[in-house]
Amino acid sequence: MKMYIVGAGPGDPDLITVKGLKLLQEADVVFYTDSLVSEALVAKANPEAEVIKSSGMALEEMIEVIASRIKAGKKLVRLHTGDPAMYGATMEQIALLKREGISCEIIPGVSSVFAAAAAVGAELTIPDLTQTLILTRAEGRTPVPERERLSELAKHHCTIALFLSATLTKKVAKELLAAGWSEDTPVAVVQRASWPDELIVRTTIANMDSDMQKNGIRSHAMILAGWALSPDIHEKDEYRSKLYDKTFTHGFRKGVQA
Ligand SMILES: C[S@@+](CC[C@H](N)C(=O)[O-])C[C@H]1O[C@@H](n2cnc3c(N)ncnc32)[C@H](O)[C@@H]1O
Repeated sequence: MKMYIVGAGPGDPDLITVKGLKLLQEADVVFYTDSLVSEALVAKANPEAEVIKSSGMALEEMIEVIASRIKAGKKLVRLHTGDPAMYGATMEQIALLKREGISCEIIPGVSSVFAAAAAVGAELTIPDLTQTLILTRAEGRTPVPERERLSELAKHHCTIALFLSATLTKKVAKELLAAGWSEDTPVAVVQRASWPDELIVRTTIANMDSDMQKNGIRSHAMILAGWALSPDIHEKDEYRSKLYDKTFTHGFRKGVQA
């Protein structure tokens, strides 16, 4: 017996994988978080499928509903926003379903971090500038382990993507500054990336909090911070990868003398 955990993507119903869509169309039961997954995607399921919304349910109730359908021989797809591996609370579902003799197969999805990067046209790992992206969140009601304090992580001066942090921007700015980031470090905030009402706010660490307030952004937003987000970095053409450098030899191409 198996449950399929499918990454629904960031919002645009076309941003689901081919495999995920196929499973969605084959499912007898579709179980999804109605506050986060697009209705337009759920509408792609078989019209005969039973559709169950999970946002009002506690974990135990969810497991009971899911297990009853799967034990009755139904094919059940659990849609998770973005990619299920990021803040998807999948582990607790998998653990309880295992006790019921039900295993899970996970189909990855397009995380909002990559939909946000696409929306602002950014490469998050720019050669010679940064080769690292940290995916994290600011500490709010959900604790973050002490050793993962933003002020410590940010000492790498790489690109940082913050989930679940739209109401914590004062704290985020304070911690980034404490790590030695300058006030003019570029920040791109994307609310509802890939949805029809997507909103992009380009700002800096110093102005992030007031700019988000001005734009009424308090939820469903990805905060991308670091110099890779500089709007004019592509125009300057200062940073080039080795991959397309004509003097660089690699497995598929021999470099020529400069
Ligand atoms: C519970 S987490 C789920 C993340 C999801 N698993 C993913 O990979 O995108 C919810 C947070 O993800 C971010 N998020 C989800 N969808 C988004 C979107 N379309 N645009 C911007 N941020 C989004 C926001 O930071 C939001 O607070």
